Amino acid sequence: MNLPQIHSITKKILVALIAAFLMIFLLFHACANLCILRNDDGAWYNAFCHFMGTNIFVKVFEIILMACFLLHMCLTLWLVITNRQARGTERYHQRSKTKTHPYSKLMPWTGVLILLLLFVHFHDFYFVKMGWIPGNYMVQTKELFTKPELNQMVQVCQQYNMTPQDYIAANDQQLEQVKSQGQIGEQELAEINEQLDKLRELVPVADVVINAQADKKLSEDGQYINQLSYEERNAINAVYGKGTAEPDFYHMARVKFTKLYIVLIYLLFFAVVGIHLRHGFSSVFQTLGLNNYKYNKAIEIIGIIYVWAVCCIFSLVVLGVYIPSLF
Ligand code: HEM
Repeated sequence: MNLPQIHSITKKILVALIAAFLMIFLLFHACANLCILRNDDGAWYNAFCHFMGTNIFVKVFEIILMACFLLHMCLTLWLVITNRQARGTERYHQRSKTKTHPYSKLMPWTGVLILLLLFVHFHDFYFVKMGWIPGNYMVQTKELFTKPELNQMVQVCQQYNMTPQDYIAANDQQLEQVKSQGQIGEQELAEINEQLDKLRELVPVADVVINAQADKKLSEDGQYINQLSYEERNAINAVYGKGTAEPDFYHMARVKFTKLYIVLIYLLFFAVVGIHLRHGFSSVFQTLGLNNYKYNKAIEIIGIIYVWAVCCIFSLVVLGVYIPSLF
């Protein structure tokens, strides 16, 4: 197979720059996930995810991030193939005398494993955000009350202890009475029917709002209704537009990380990421020519601290949910 000719050092520098960017993202991602450990019913974490899901700059960043992941994989695969092509079937008789990190040979394998485990991770969270897989959702209460009809329906239902369906039935009954008395004109009737249709549309949403308190789905500060089902999310988005009800990652993570097999899969994920990063960190400095005898030791130590910090923070999040759930 003839691959387009790009100088291998250009490819290496690109891989290193992208890897540096991904490493910064990973540390940030690990630290942000620490919010899952707060016992605030998702106030911090979900507010953070809401910001991440709605801010235009973050959306652009996400596209760049995904492109970087893809490019990192394609370029490294390309480097492996072109290196093999250049070397042919012959193996070197003389082993290289330069000291290679013991993990360096594992890089392609840990890379493939990360890809597989990343797929599991995306299946758990990211694909829910994309709407490809059902999960749990949340909605901002203030978004719902932008419709005054909902406010009115909820208030009447709460005041008279009735369901939204009863409220619609009572309105229908009242309209029939007025119609039978012949006291209503054509245009007025059409307007009332239009209003009633709007209210009918809002019944599933009113159900969600009214039940939120009883089902303990209302956040402590009253700003969010959490743990909504896929059907409830669809009902809300059908009326208010796509994206109004967003994934409730806090409660999803809190539920997932109480299951031992999921915890073990994630701990394996972090270990493999750690092994990959351990070599990757010093490799980035080497490729970019930022290492020299004076700083090599410091780079090595910072690399070890970085890898342990990332792996420990991620593990702390998962175990911080799992261990307390045992008691
Ligand atoms: C405790 C462990 C982790 C948790 C709880 C977690 C949680 C999440 C959540 C909730 C999302 C969706 C956020 C959103 O799109 O708004 C996400 C996305 C993502 N995660 Fe993780 N994650 C963890 C570990 C990891 C690890 C180890 C990696 C990489 C090796 C990783 C890579 C990604 C990527 C690339 C995305 C998509 C980009 C984004 O939307 O920010 N995650 N993660």
